[in-house]
Amino acid sequence: MMWLLFGLLLALTADTPEGKPLTVTTNDYTKVIISRPAEGPNCSVCVGEDSSQACGAKQVIAVSQSTQVNFTCSRPQDIFTIEINREFDCSRTCSYDSIQADWSTFQDFNRTFTWDVKVASSKSFQLEFPAPGMRQIQSSEQCPGKHVYSLLMYLRSGPVNLGKFCQNGTITRIQIVWKGRITLDIPRETTLSSFAIKYSEAVGSALAIDAVFPRGQSDTDFLSASGLPADYTMTWNFVLPPKHNFTVDFVKYNIPACQSKTVKVIYKQANMAAVEKTLSDNQPTNYLGNFNLSLSNCDVKSAGGPDGLFLHFRVSVFRGGFPDLCMVNLQSDKGLSLQIVKKNQDSFCEFGVNAVVQEKIEVPANSKASLSFLDCPKDSLILTATKTIECRSLSSCPEAGTLLTMPVLDSCLPPSLSQVTWVLNVPEQGSVELSSPQGSLHQSVPGVQECDGLQSVLVSAANGVNVGRFCSASKGIIQKVQISSNITVTATADEDKDLRLEKAPILNVSFSSEITDTLIYTVSPLISTPALLMTPNWPEPMKPDSTLSWIVNVPEEYSAQLSFSNVSLPVCSSSHAEIKIQERGSNVEMGFREDQLLVNEHNILRSFNLNMSNCEPEQGKFAILSKISLQKQSGKVLSIILGVVGALLALVIILLIVVCVLVRKKKQKMTNRSSIYIPKGVASLPGDVTFPKTRADNESHVYTSIDETMVYGHLLQQDGGPGHFNGHQVDSYHPFTSPMDKTSKDSGYDQNVERGPDRDMYRPFLAPSETFIPSRPRTPLGHVDSLEYEDRRMVDNILYTFKTPGDANPIRLSAAEPVLLPEPEPEPEPDSSLEPEQFDQEYDEAL
Ligand SMILES: *[C@@H]1O[C@H](CO)[C@@H](O)[C@H](O)[C@H]1NC(C)=O
Ligand SMILES: *[C@@H]1O[C@H](CO)[C@@H](O)[C@H](O)[C@H]1NC(C)=O
Ligand SMILES: *[C@@H]1O[C@H](CO)[C@@H](O)[C@H](O)[C@H]1NC(C)=O
Ligand SMILES: *[C@@H]1O[C@H](CO)[C@@H](O)[C@H](O)[C@H]1NC(C)=O
Ligand SMILES: *[C@@H]1O[C@H](CO)[C@@H](O)[C@H](O)[C@H]1NC(C)=O
Ligand SMILES: *[C@@H]1O[C@H](CO)[C@@H](O)[C@H](O)[C@H]1NC(C)=O
Ligand SMILES: *[C@@H]1O[C@H](CO)[C@@H](O)[C@H](O)[C@H]1NC(C)=O
Ligand SMILES: *[C@@H]1O[C@H](CO)[C@@H](O)[C@H](O)[C@H]1NC(C)=O
Ligand SMILES: *[C@@H]1O[C@H](CO)[C@@H](O)[C@H](O)[C@H]1NC(C)=O
Ligand SMILES: *[C@@H]1O[C@H](CO)[C@@H](O)[C@H](O)[C@H]1NC(C)=O
Repeated sequence: MMWLLFGLLLALTADTPEGKPLTVTTNDYTKVIISRPAEGPNCSVCVGEDSSQACGAKQVIAVSQSTQVNFTCSRPQDIFTIEINREFDCSRTCSYDSIQADWSTFQDFNRTFTWDVKVASSKSFQLEFPAPGMRQIQSSEQCPGKHVYSLLMYLRSGPVNLGKFCQNGTITRIQIVWKGRITLDIPRETTLSSFAIKYSEAVGSALAIDAVFPRGQSDTDFLSASGLPADYTMTWNFVLPPKHNFTVDFVKYNIPACQSKTVKVIYKQANMAAVEKTLSDNQPTNYLGNFNLSLSNCDVKSAGGPDGLFLHFRVSVFRGGFPDLCMVNLQSDKGLSLQIVKKNQDSFCEFGVNAVVQEKIEVPANSKASLSFLDCPKDSLILTATKTIECRSLSSCPEAGTLLTMPVLDSCLPPSLSQVTWVLNVPEQGSVELSSPQGSLHQSVPGVQECDGLQSVLVSAANGVNVGRFCSASKGIIQKVQISSNITVTATADEDKDLRLEKAPILNVSFSSEITDTLIYTVSPLISTPALLMTPNWPEPMKPDSTLSWIVNVPEEYSAQLSFSNVSLPVCSSSHAEIKIQERGSNVEMGFREDQLLVNEHNILRSFNLNMSNCEPEQGKFAILSKISLQKQSGKVLSIILGVVGALLALVIILLIVVCVLVRKKKQKMTNRSSIYIPKGVASLPGDVTFPKTRADNESHVYTSIDETMVYGHLLQQDGGPGHFNGHQVDSYHPFTSPMDKTSKDSGYDQNVERGPDRDMYRPFLAPSETFIPSRPRTPLGHVDSLEYEDRRMVDNILYTFKTPGDANPIRLSAAEPVLLPEPEPEPEPDSSLEPEQFDQEYDEAL
């Protein structure tokens, strides 16, 4: 820019030297006068074409001309000045226009713009200065922008010099009577300012200057006009911001030689009597509000000159009123800092720290400060607190956790506490764990589930990800939230509330070692209401490449119905987004990738983990709202029935094992049938016993019985046929994958259960076995995938029942086990034609 300007100036300079003519064009109101001082180098300016050329020390180019100008010397810009003059005669009619320097020829000369303004002699005109206004300077001063304005007023008695002014000041308007001249001096190589003065007719016929003071403390100097005629009055109208006081100081004055009167200064304030003073009196100190100051000349013997009336005064403006002080000491609350801002920047509230007025108060952690508040109503301020909690290494973190409570602040702080932010910095390889000191946490989602008047906090990870909004609630479902990054916890007061009144701790925070996922929620859904789980940021997308788990605890005797009720899956650019359901305490696991069909409903019989991982999405977003409802499994009676049925099945299997073993052994040797009564270790030591020959003859019959009573006979066959059936083979059984298999198995199982009531001994259990069947619709039969899932579970459970009597599922077995296992051996008739039904009967009799 500078170089460009410099280049331009060089070009203009190169055009003007001796002999090289310059074409100058004037518009229809601008006249250009090129002149030099009479003394100095002998150089002329020539205007016009060859024949009609006129040369001299001064040339005038009239309005609406286009002419050649050349100089008889090189570097005429060192000698000549250019005056650009406009007449603004509005004494009859005129279209008032703005006064602006808008003629850019002769940039390398000192230029003077002059505007001669005039209205009818009985009238006055005003010059209005747009923001940032004008500032009066002493004649020796210079303006920072190098644009110096001077004002002259012509009275019949002669010119009155109103002084010099720069842009940027308090003066907004000057009213001049009849006729005046505005001069703007601009040195060479100065770009013209676009500052435009508004010129218009004014009401009233007095010389007046209006000044508007900015807010806060200021000192502004004003100078009287020089050459004021006898008895002439000039007035300053001062406008102060509200709640500001002023003091007037007379810096310097000159009292002219008067005849009989004295020079008077009159102060006027609204609703107050005018105060008259002389130049030597004490001037007003510490007055509130706007005021007008009039200076009236006496009946001078001779106006003007160095002995004329002169007054230089200073107006000091400052805030009225006395601030409230408040001493704040944060040294006793480690990591706590305070911030105070104004709700409305235009308010007249003024505050400061340690006697320095500030726009914003920041009291850093571990410091003391004296705060002052002036005209700051309680509700005009916003007070927020930030508390940083960190420990450098895991070992130094408090084991008992830290309770987040509202900071205790000095009651002299006027505003209510509207926000508290806890910054929780975890050490490297650490995670932060949030729990509720009141029991459990409730996640608030606007429009879905809210905190209902309880104080909620927003938990955000350091990368700006919104983990969720939580409140401590007695009926919340979240036991804890673990996050593997630094987080901030923010409590924001509801409208007009003061967080200082919130006494209960908001959260319990502890730091622990790193977790496998970005985020883990531990939840225990309630029986009464479905639990809603949402991915962080929901309904906004979860962060790319982040992982998340819900550890869902399902109470005993309940099953969980998990449904994905609002799902948005992304298209992944690389890797995959995945949703996994993993039952705890078993190896049952289901996974869905974003490019696969997500099965929306799942029935899960025990506690499980729901894990989700996002990819780097190419398009779309990962956001899932899941719902978990609990349903009671068919109760204790069912457990007993299952136990009994299980025990029965176990017994049948044991018998089968015995039978199988006997069948095999039969081919090798015949033994006494009394060996069948060996009470212990029948199942584990099948080879030690041998079946009687008669029994072996009924081998096919026994297998019929298995097929009817045991759902899983064909499974056993898969494992190498009935001949290999033993406990270990059951143990090694793994879930099926074919849905078709499941369906057939499923119906087989039902048949099996239904067979129970056929026996006399099972009649009392008829009803409970019916209750078992209706419970099945939890898994819709039509839904192959979810059916598969449930069936797999049931298969596993039943098989585990066979396998280990001491299985971890005590509900189903506890009723049957102690009875069954100590005396597992029935009293089978030696009769080889014994039917399976008879076996059962005998067993029941034994019980
Ligand atoms: C001014 O320029 C004109 C032609 O452009 C030339 O004839 C004349 O001599 C010049 N005058 C001076 C004083 O150099
Ligand atoms: C100045 O120059 C002009 C011509 O360029 C000449 O006529 C005049 O006499 C000179 N004046 C002086 C005082 O040298
Ligand atoms: C131009 O103005 C500067 C300062 O503003 C002054 O020093 C210089 O003498 C002036 N030049 C002329 C030719 O008036
Ligand atoms: C106006 O003047 C004040 C001080 O007098 C200065 O701080 C401010 O920057 C100036 N503004 C402009 C636009 O020059
Ligand atoms: C001060 O002068 C202004 C402008 O002439 C006028 O509007 C205002 O009423 C005057 N104030 C007082 C207190 O006289
Ligand atoms: C401002 O002026 C008012 C009225 O004159 C006065 O009561 C008040 O004390 C002054 N303020 C200060 C800070 O002196
Ligand atoms: C806070 O959490 C820690 C760690 O989980 C636990 O030891 C402590 O008892 C909890 N404190 C309260 C008041 O719940
Ligand atoms: C948490 O913040 C602290 C301090 O800013 C930093 O040293 C630490 O590495 C951060 N921890 C994590 C897990 O980002
Ligand atoms: C899923 O949630 C979004 C965001 O709240 C909502 O706009 C949309 O209607 C919901 N879709 C369904 C099917 O409920
Ligand atoms: C699911 O998340 C839990 C908790 O982070 C984790 O222990 C488990 O291994 C995860 N399961 C899968 C299948 O990723």
